[in-house]
Amino acid sequence: MTEPELSISPLNPVIGAELTGLDLSVPLSPETFKSVHAAWLEHLVLFFRDQVLTLEQHKAFGRLFGELHVHPSVPSLEGHPEVLLIRTDENSKRAAGYGWHTDVSCEAEPPSGSILRLEQVPVSGGDTLFASMYAAYEALSDHWQGFLSSLSAVHENEHVHGRPGYGAMEGREFRKNEHPVIRTHPETGRKALYVNSGFTTRIRGMRPAESRATLAFLYHHIQHPDFHCRFSWQPNSIAFWDNRCAQHHATFDYYPQVRHGYRVTIAGDRPF
Ligand code: SIN
Repeated sequence: MTEPELSISPLNPVIGAELTGLDLSVPLSPETFKSVHAAWLEHLVLFFRDQVLTLEQHKAFGRLFGELHVHPSVPSLEGHPEVLLIRTDENSKRAAGYGWHTDVSCEAEPPSGSILRLEQVPVSGGDTLFASMYAAYEALSDHWQGFLSSLSAVHENEHVHGRPGYGAMEGREFRKNEHPVIRTHPETGRKALYVNSGFTTRIRGMRPAESRATLAFLYHHIQHPDFHCRFSWQPNSIAFWDNRCAQHHATFDYYPQVRHGYRVTIAGDRPF
């Protein structure tokens, strides 16, 4: 049987590509996997439409890229420790993923990638924005690149996932770890800015005011639209992003409509 033809359409030259011609509910051939993996490394976030997957098929697609990550502090879906429910409805006070971040960067070995599939989406709104941290790094002057390259920062999650509304969970743990402010992607060798407003709380070795000012500058810098793409969801769309070199921000402009889906997260390694 011949496989459907894979087509890759970049959203812009910096970040994001839509892939068509694939059915992710069936195992990918080694050649197709190689093409999808290469596209992921090149475009940082891949988008797929019309993917009707069971949770097992969703996890199987994730496992092609590595072991699956289990969230240390947020309850997972019953019977599926590697699956997070991403749901906002009329009872929600906030949306998961609101604000620029990379997933769970507080881990000693933060996740390499995340695969989100939405089944129910608002009539309009609920887009997710993605930002290239390669582009953010490369847009800095040599002075800033040099200054930041010797620094490390603290990433933690108690202030995020310890808030009411994130669900009590037996055995819940919070994480606190230090990572370089500029990391080198382990697969592409490219340098990326690696601080995010979700989890990074301070820069090691700086006075509090210096750390706040440096992080405020960087958080403002990453908001430049030249580093971004924006994805409008449809039912059964998938976004598959690389947490090592991209940040994302889920908008919350659709209350009280329902936005509902599942995220599988791929384990990563220690940033260097
Ligand atoms: C997340 O950060 O995993 C949620 C992203 C989204 O809902 O678009």
